[in-house]
Amino acid sequence: MISEAIRQRRAVRQFDGRPVEKQKIEALLETAVWAPNDRLREPWHFYVIQGEAKKRYEAAAEKFLKERFPAKPKLVEESLKVLYTIPALIIVTADTLPDDADSTEDNIYAACCAAYNIWLSAAEQGLGCVWRTRGIGLVRDERLRKLLDCPENRKIIGTLCIGYAAEEPPVTKRTAAAEKTTWLD
Ligand SMILES: Cc1cc2nc3c(=O)[nH]c(=O)nc-3n(C[C@H](O)[C@H](O)[C@H](O)COP(=O)(O)O)c2cc1C
Repeated sequence: MISEAIRQRRAVRQFDGRPVEKQKIEALLETAVWAPNDRLREPWHFYVIQGEAKKRYEAAAEKFLKERFPAKPKLVEESLKVLYTIPALIIVTADTLPDDADSTEDNIYAACCAAYNIWLSAAEQGLGCVWRTRGIGLVRDERLRKLLDCPENRKIIGTLCIGYAAEEPPVTKRTAAAEKTTWLD
């Protein structure tokens, strides 16, 4: 039931550190590429970070956090603690087209759909996931681009943190759709 899966998906931020099986990550990625995308440009790329690469990511995150929050050492420490327990990261990018702003925008939307596919599929694989942009997500930090050796024509849209949940994720609420809807007849 798709609507059930959508309602039950939660942001999982606490992981127990167990490694994630490669075939499960592959299954997430195989689902990701079935996202809708205009003119079948398939405008995405995925970088999977584990093992030694994860250590390089942690070093970049530490530098970023210390620079960004020089007066908040506790926050830096807590954020890094969380990062150390994440076994795998998937960075999702969208292809940008220098002379076509509209298609670039559509590519970003499509890549977001792919990222959401990963998030939804994670639950099916018994995995927790959260899409991060801020903080340890490093999405807007040039260090991440360098670390990935990511070309300029790929916009980094999200860091998906994947692992086995250490605890029940927090319950969240939504405003009823009726309050967010205008019907025009
Ligand atoms: C584009 C995007 C960026 C997000 N960035 C962050 C982030 O940087 N840090 C974080 O903890 N959660 C991040 N989230 C997760 C949201 O905070 C989370 O979805 C929200 O709290 C609602 O919780 P739920 O998904 O469990 O209903 C992001 C989600 C999206 C879609």
